[in-house]
Formats: sequence, structure tokens, C-alpha cells
Amino acid sequence: MRINIAVIDGDGIGPEVCAAAIGALDAAGKRFGHELCYRHVLMGGAAIDKHGIPLPDETVDICKNSGAVLLGAVGGPKWDGLPGNLRPEAGLLGIRKSLGLYANIRPARLINALKATCPLKDGIRDRGIDMVVVRELTGGMYFGKRNTVFRGGAEAYAYDTEKYSVAEIERIARKAYEIAAARKNEIISIDKANVLDSGRLWRKVVHELNAEYPKTRVSDMLVDNAAMQLIKNPSQFDVVLTPNMFGDILSDEAAMITGSIGVLASASLGDGAFGLYEPIHGSAPDIAGQDKANPVAAVLSAAMLLKYSFGLNAEAAAIENAVDRVLEKNIRTADIAESGSQIVGCKEMGRLIAEAVFTDRRPII
Ligand code: IPM
Ligand code: MN
Repeated sequence: MRINIAVIDGDGIGPEVCAAAIGALDAAGKRFGHELCYRHVLMGGAAIDKHGIPLPDETVDICKNSGAVLLGAVGGPKWDGLPGNLRPEAGLLGIRKSLGLYANIRPARLINALKATCPLKDGIRDRGIDMVVVRELTGGMYFGKRNTVFRGGAEAYAYDTEKYSVAEIERIARKAYEIAAARKNEIISIDKANVLDSGRLWRKVVHELNAEYPKTRVSDMLVDNAAMQLIKNPSQFDVVLTPNMFGDILSDEAAMITGSIGVLASASLGDGAFGLYEPIHGSAPDIAGQDKANPVAAVLSAAMLLKYSFGLNAEAAAIENAVDRVLEKNIRTADIAESGSQIVGCKEMGRLIAEAVFTDRRPII
């Protein structure tokens, strides 16, 4: 099969983790007989430096003409002073919107080999963590009306608005119901319905759709309580459905309780097979260019890419297994090191994973 991928290396550690993800993809291609073609395009700070804008049209066009997009990370202190619409992050929001990627799927699973890096108490951790955060990605506060009005000193003000239409809530809820059907058929839907109108509409639409998926059990949780429950009793969560802003916050928390933000992958999807795949971590400018980044999240994002956009389940499993194998050998990047770990850099970690993809022929489950 010919697999066309647009690669947005991005800023900070983005290029380093993308290189590792490409290494794993190439190894899977070699093992299973696929031809992988990459087109590297600019977005975020890298695009600002070259073209003065965070999301050039050419980038959107090339992404649209590819089967999927692999993204490293964008942003950094160098561009922090720019106005909101010219920041690197505006490129990320822009590409999500222009590609119609309204569903962000963030699986958070405690990998067996990483149990010791989980910051929760043994009794809590031992009950396991295995959830999927289904985050709405192209609506809510991120895309609502906003403005800053300067009128001298303390009178100046700024606002952002949380707005959701029935159609927007319905399509993301549908994704959550579909994902739940392939798991335990349980959804916990997050909102702030005790305060926000948009939260009350969210709750109503999510429950109305239950009529089409009668086997699924849906319960609601207020976002503040959810932040607490994720630490107190994370094993209660399976599919977590959230609006954009709450999902941004809770998915970082979900990542942290599984050991490190450096291991969580994500897929941003629309209605078809096309998707954008990125680690949920940021560009980590403090360690950029030092070969210290953890490439696991980017590598696992590449596995999601093969699975969701190309239906290549065995290939994806080979990559996931390879990551497990390397971690089981206690080979780690510094962020997930524990006692006795052999600490390696990003490049070496990527090389070892790619090697395991190609050489490890254990049966794929
Ligand atoms: C994420 C990131 C982005 C977001 C930023 C970089 C715009 O934090 O993907 O979670 O808030 O969506
Ligand atoms: Mn985030």
C-alpha cells in the first residue's frame, strides 16, 4: 500500500520526536511491505520565521492532499510576544478547523512497564488506568467570539465566549458513543451545567442521543469534580466526553497520572478516515535540540495514524508492541527513568523502537 503522509515537524522538540516516529513508520513499512512517502510542511513558529504567518495556504493544501498528517509540536518563547492570531498556536487551531477535525481522541493508559512512574498511591494505581478522552476540538471557547478592548487603565477588558450548537455537540457525542461501543459502552460526559448555559445544552444533547445508542450507559460529571476524581479514582473512567477547553485541561491531567506527558498520543479526526496525529505534549523549548525528548508519544501517534487513517491494525500493533518491549527492558528517556534504567536520548530511543518494530516477531494481539 502507498501511504502519503504530510509531516509538520513544528518547533522545539517537534522535529526530534517526528524523526523517531518516521523511523518507526519506516520500520513497519519495511516489515509489512508498504511504501511510505512524506512531505514536510511548515506550521507554527517555523512558518512564522519563513513566511511571517503561522499557517501558510500551501501547508493546508498539502495536508488536504495527503492521507494523514503527523505533527510534532508548535510554539516557544521566541514567538510569545506576537498577537494571538499570529502566534504559532493559531496555526494549530487553524489547521484543526480548516481540515474539519472536530474530534480529538486521547487514550490514556497506564503502561505496565511504567507503573512505577505513576504519581498516584499504590492502592489507586493498582486498580488500573485505561481511558479515552474524546475532546471536542473545533468549537467552544477556543473558537468563540473574543476581543480585547483598550480604554485606559482599569477600564480595559477582554473576553472569550463559550458557544456550542446542537450540531457541534451531537457530532462529537456520536464519536464518543461509537468509541464506547467498541469498549465498555460507558461514557462519562463532562460539563459545567450548574453554571453555564452551554453546559446545560451539552448535557441535554448528549442524553438525547442515547436513544440511538440504547446499550450505552451515560453519566454526567461536573468538570471540577472530574479533576478531583481523576486523581482519587481514575479507574472509574472509560470514555470521557468533553468540550474543547475542559478536554485540554483534563487530558493533561490524565496524561500525568499515567506516568508522563511524554507517552500520550492523540488523533484528531473528522468524518472520514483522514486525521492529524500528534503527541499531546508541547514543544518543550527548555530541552529542544538536546536529544533529551521522549519520542514515545509521537511514535504511538504514528501507530494511531496507521490504524485510524489506513486501517492497518497489525502494523499499528507492531509499533505499540515495540514500544512496550523497549520500555520493559527498562530503557528510558530521562523523563520516565526509574531506578536501574538505562537512560538514552531521543534518537537512540527512536532507533531501538524502530529496530524492535522490524525484528520483534512475537504474535501480534
Ligand atoms: C493541545 C495543546 C493546544 C490546545 C495548544 C498548543 C493550542 O495544548 O493540543 O492540547 O490547547 O489545544
Ligand atoms: Mn493541551
